Amino acid sequence: MIKKAVIPAAGFGTRFLPATKAQPKEMLPIIDTPTIQYVVQEAVDSGIEDILIISGKGKRAIEDHFDRNWELEALLDEKEDNKFYNEIRHIGDMANIHYIRQKEMNGLGDAIRYARCHVGNEPFAVLLGDSIIDSVIPVTQQLIDIYEQYKQSVVAVQEVPREKVSLYGIIGGQKISDKLWQIDELVEKPDIRKAPSNLAFAARYILTPGIFDALDATTPGKNNEIQLTDAMSLLLQRESIYANVTQGTRYDIGNKMDYLKTIVHFGLKRKEFSGEFKKFLKDLVKGF
Ligand code: UTP
Repeated sequence: MIKKAVIPAAGFGTRFLPATKAQPKEMLPIIDTPTIQYVVQEAVDSGIEDILIISGKGKRAIEDHFDRNWELEALLDEKEDNKFYNEIRHIGDMANIHYIRQKEMNGLGDAIRYARCHVGNEPFAVLLGDSIIDSVIPVTQQLIDIYEQYKQSVVAVQEVPREKVSLYGIIGGQKISDKLWQIDELVEKPDIRKAPSNLAFAARYILTPGIFDALDATTPGKNNEIQLTDAMSLLLQRESIYANVTQGTRYDIGNKMDYLKTIVHFGLKRKEFSGEFKKFLKDLVKGF
């Protein structure tokens, strides 16, 4: 059973400057809920009980968010505001959350190395702290189900337009079924002419503990960072890795266009806003 998850959340978020100059991009709110709370909720909904957040410089707001806020709780209790009181209490009790700080932002692979002691010799889930995937079955749950069958690492992938493959980690391999591939190649941000497919990593992984030795053996790659994709290529020499073509809409909040789309999507999904908000959008679009 997979009970532990790692959420890397230490990155600089340069694509979202200046908003991320003094606040973590993982705390950017989707209406009233910070992005990373959706990510933690997905982990919890997938049966994860223990979460390690990879934190770093300027990320204190994440720890404060998942901590209890006694003064606020007392105030809401006094006002008999049960709705907000319960909501605030729930955030502090969502899961057993631990933190470790990445000392230098040397890339996603480097961030995951910090989880070695915490995770030990167990397979674990990785959920990128800046990506929300809206799906009926939580994506991490989809991956855990495949892990239970094959007992090997599994990554979520999604099709991306061919002209955008150079923005993502891309897999190549053998198709086992509609939704499942056995990977034989992984490339980080490939040149469009060399991409083995248009199936891109989609921010969720189940990794076996073998990834830690692979990460230790990985030298800096693209952008002079330790790339998780490169470490997974080394892991592939020793273990099989599967890819699940994931159902669900993925939003990378670190990307401004995706952030805009997420707010609109979730605004339309929320019953209390949907009628007025839909009308507002329709009227607004007419004027452009
Ligand atoms: P990104 O690939 O979006 O990198 O990280 P970034 O540095 O945060 O953002 P940009 O490219 O400068 O805009 C994906 C996830 O991995 C974490 C990020 O916090 C994000 O949740 N990450 C990235 C780390 O924890 N450490 C790193 O060194 C890099």
